[in-house]
Amino acid sequence: MSQHLTIIDHPLVQHKLTIMRQKDVSTAGFRRLLREISLLLAYEVTRELEVTTMRIQTPLTEMDAPTLEGKKLALISILRAGNGLLDGILELIPSARVGFVGLYRDPETLQPVEYYCKVPRELDARMTIVVDPMLATGNSSVAAIDMLKKEGAKNLRFLCLLAAPEGVARMKEAHPDVPIFTAALDQRLDDHGYIVPGLGDAGDRMFGTK
Ligand code: URA
Repeated sequence: MSQHLTIIDHPLVQHKLTIMRQKDVSTAGFRRLLREISLLLAYEVTRELEVTTMRIQTPLTEMDAPTLEGKKLALISILRAGNGLLDGILELIPSARVGFVGLYRDPETLQPVEYYCKVPRELDARMTIVVDPMLATGNSSVAAIDMLKKEGAKNLRFLCLLAAPEGVARMKEAHPDVPIFTAALDQRLDDHGYIVPGLGDAGDRMFGTK
């Protein structure tokens, strides 16, 4: 199994992330960069997919050629910002099964509460990649993974664009078996739970809301 935290330090990922962080990037620009970067992140997070061989016929000869083994992987988007990563990854892996987890924060307890959960069948037999661009406190990712484990998921990965040390620590404590893949590990959370230096509210930036 991979290490707990993998920082995807590919130059193209880092370059695109630097543009996305800048506050004057338009909604369209942010969305386009997120789609592009998600293709590169997907490439790394799926590196351990199992491969078998199949007999094929090229124009010249027969050969045993590599092909993915097992059930199609499952992508689980944590609503709503997860959908920005999901769209790009689906371009690369169009046959992936897709699920959604919706959580809101209870204003009194400040704990995440589930309002939606719809996941693919046979999660126990699929590599399951949970996507959310920002791993901040880790509360929602821990809650989402709790839910997915109850649904049977066993082979999980968490993919984000930016992570805060607080979120990584919380995930490691709650789900040490779930490797995290991110483009960058930032400095800290501010008093409102935003990642610093970060890029602001990922959902607002990709959807143009406030
Ligand atoms: N969610 C965001 O969109 N941004 C942050 O910085 C933290 C959580």
